Amino acid sequence: MAGYTVVVLPGDGIGPEIVDATRTVLAATGVEIEWKPFEVGIAAMEMTGTPLPDEAVEEIRRCGVALKGPITTPVGSGFASATVALRQRLDLYANLRPVRSIPGVPARYPAVDLVIIRENTEDLYAGVEHWIDDDTVIAVKRITRQASQRIARFAFDYATRHHRRQVTAVHKANILKMSDGLFLQCAREVAGQYPHLKYSERIVDALCLDLVLDPGRHDVLLCPNLYGDIVSDLAAGLVGGLGLAPAANIGDGVAVFEAVHGSAPDIAGKGIANPTALILAGAMMLAYLGETEAAARVEKAVLETYRQGKALTPDMGGTATTREFTRAIVACMD
Ligand code: NAI
Ligand code: MG
Repeated sequence: MAGYTVVVLPGDGIGPEIVDATRTVLAATGVEIEWKPFEVGIAAMEMTGTPLPDEAVEEIRRCGVALKGPITTPVGSGFASATVALRQRLDLYANLRPVRSIPGVPARYPAVDLVIIRENTEDLYAGVEHWIDDDTVIAVKRITRQASQRIARFAFDYATRHHRRQVTAVHKANILKMSDGLFLQCAREVAGQYPHLKYSERIVDALCLDLVLDPGRHDVLLCPNLYGDIVSDLAAGLVGGLGLAPAANIGDGVAVFEAVHGSAPDIAGKGIANPTALILAGAMMLAYLGETEAAARVEKAVLETYRQGKALTPDMGGTATTREFTRAIVACMD
């Protein structure tokens, strides 16, 4: 059996709890993983003066794969997001976010099956802001042809490989005629090279309405960075909450797997976080490594645990702790 070396970043808040749960479930597959832990986030900030030490970034580059817990970012002032910095420094240009219903989970819709593909390196997340006078700030929304074409190709390749029916470009090019206009122009050009796939476009606010009223209208959503971020939480809400939504940050030869959600400071340290999102991200990681059978076993065990419904965390209406829920998944592993 192949052995893998994977960097692990426990992160802040509920991060260490859900990372622990994910490692337990992945260990139960029998796939051999040597974990290389690095402190990032608040602890790293206090020890080294930066929330994202260079050694962690370089080790991920060397190993090619990381499992990451959420990292806290102060609001309104303080240090910039280490998560965004990590994506930019490793050029993890595609953020892949499948949103699927889990039978047994109380949710608004029973059969959602969406894939959000979010551009992950530019847009307003370049983080360039200027005071231009005492009462006015300008933020730069950077959109490039290169990054827009690259994410569009990623979306159409993904849709082709996974036999999806439609790709919808999400934009606000009626208002942002140049920046979102360029994103849309790139999406259209790339769409022309994939005639077997249906291509459509939707203005982001109307898309939000569609998703709340009838998520079945959509399939693969190709989004610039900011809209992808917002639409991801909305879509997670359709299937039962943030505790369920996994994500993969993918670049050329390097990938970082995490949850869509953040560090959930309101429940951190209580042992009640739902680790499903990160466990499903762990399954995506196994598939990325070529361990497709182990990945399928993890997904099946998660589904079976929800079907049985005996050991669910409080966000899912249960009373189980993170550890009890994790043990239930391991017990369901065939
Ligand atoms: P959040 O996603 O951490 O929490 C939003 C709500 O969802 C909270 O009520 C929380 O308890 C709940 N929730 C989230 N994940 C859960 C889980 N696994 N199980 C049960 N309940 C869960 O968003 P919030 O509060 O806006 O952000 C907290 C911090 O996380 C901020 O510092 C933010 O910058 C950071 N963040 C980090 C991300 C990352 O590292 N990728 C992504 C999003 C936010
Ligand atoms: Mg987000």
